[in-house]
Amino acid sequence: MSPLDTIAREKQGDRSGPGFRSLLAQRPHLTLTAVGLAVEAVPLIRIAVGHGTPTWVYSAGAISHRYRMMATALSATGLDVRIHYALKANDALAVVTLLARQGAGADVVSDGERRIARQAGIAAKDIMFSGVGKTEAELRAALADGTGQINVESGEELAMLSGIARSMGVTARVALRVNPDVDAGTHEKITTGLAENKFGIPAADAVALYSHAAALPGISPVGLAVHIGSQITSLAPYRAAYGVLAELVQAIRAAGHTVTALDCGGGLGISYEDEEPPTPQAFASVLKETLGGLDVKLAIEPGRWIVGPAGLLLTRVVMQKQGEQRRFVILDAAMNDLLRPSLYGAWHGILPITPARWRAALSPADVVGPVCESGDTFATARPLPDLPAGEVVALLDTGAYGAVMSSTYNARPLAAQVMVSGTVDAVIRQRQSFEAMRASDVLPPWLGPLLPPPRH
Ligand code: LLP
Repeated sequence: MSPLDTIAREKQGDRSGPGFRSLLAQRPHLTLTAVGLAVEAVPLIRIAVGHGTPTWVYSAGAISHRYRMMATALSATGLDVRIHYALKANDALAVVTLLARQGAGADVVSDGERRIARQAGIAAKDIMFSGVGKTEAELRAALADGTGQINVESGEELAMLSGIARSMGVTARVALRVNPDVDAGTHEKITTGLAENKFGIPAADAVALYSHAAALPGISPVGLAVHIGSQITSLAPYRAAYGVLAELVQAIRAAGHTVTALDCGGGLGISYEDEEPPTPQAFASVLKETLGGLDVKLAIEPGRWIVGPAGLLLTRVVMQKQGEQRRFVILDAAMNDLLRPSLYGAWHGILPITPARWRAALSPADVVGPVCESGDTFATARPLPDLPAGEVVALLDTGAYGAVMSSTYNARPLAAQVMVSGTVDAVIRQRQSFEAMRASDVLPPWLGPLLPPPRH
């Protein structure tokens, strides 16, 4: 197979994926220059040498561009709709600040994310607090800060929130998260809108609970929220879920209550391999079609769509090992850095950064990390050139659910994070040192103080 194959490729069921050129063509912030693969105008070799590997690299231009594309598509519909970036996709302070400066609000699911959003300059009123298990302390802190909206996921949570708000002498603006029982057609681990999932309130209970909320002290119900899953690649599930929302709005109004806000969730998919997700324009037109006539403020909570394609994981080949049956390319990144392939069987494009490797013959290789688990595999039978020790490759589309899902498994410190803007790059999170990784470790008193390590 020629590495220069473009869109057309043979699919042999081995998930070999699109060719290098085709991957590049769909990612405008990446280019192949004489010195190799570059993010915007910064060659990745400069980052690998300057900052070491593994390192997450984000294109500020791509993040801003994608945010603007989404905002433009929404405003073209004439709807009153606001983007609340879902911090869970990538909570780096620089990423959130960049989006805050573009005008994004935030969707947060923990006190930590709420505080990051605030640090990044997002007003409390522009924050929605979602999540199925918010603690009393988290709700208290959110209310004390004047958080714009709390998305409540159960009658139990509503009662708890009412008690807290009343004790603080404040009123919580609440949206009820409805579970529309719609199959988003995504990976089972990231679908959230089915009746069997832990999320939200059954649609059948929503009107009664809304009426109940309206009567509770400390609670002001303002609307409904829905989020059906992530990496959604067709519009049908959105249409179905928003249809449920629209019917509920009518029913709640008919029961004599006001509904002024609808949070339409996130979930819009991106093309990792050969998926063809809906465009923001197509998504926006479904919003308009299903919810346009309701005279409510709309919000959406995208995460992956905005930041996913804008990031990559830069990693160096530790060694290339010829196994009995397979060639293994062993990287210095592992499942503790990028968990998605191990956890979801996710496909990520892998591009060598050296131009010569783009011209070399390809043969199948398993791309793995050094962690002591067979699940520490990024790709199986992937057509790749010879990649001897020292070569650097980029794992694509890891701007969302990449660094945020990292751990220090195998006592591997967290990787550095770098942001590129035009010709400049800057570290936005230092590589974790061994000392920082272990800073919280203490011995119990009965083991006494640490002894100096034995000489032999
Ligand atoms: N809003 C709520 C309430 C959510 O639960 C999520 C994601 C989002 C918004 C943002 O969804 P997005 O637009 O990013 O799809 N770790 C998984 C994805 C988990 C998504 C969880 N909820 C992955 O790597 O694919």
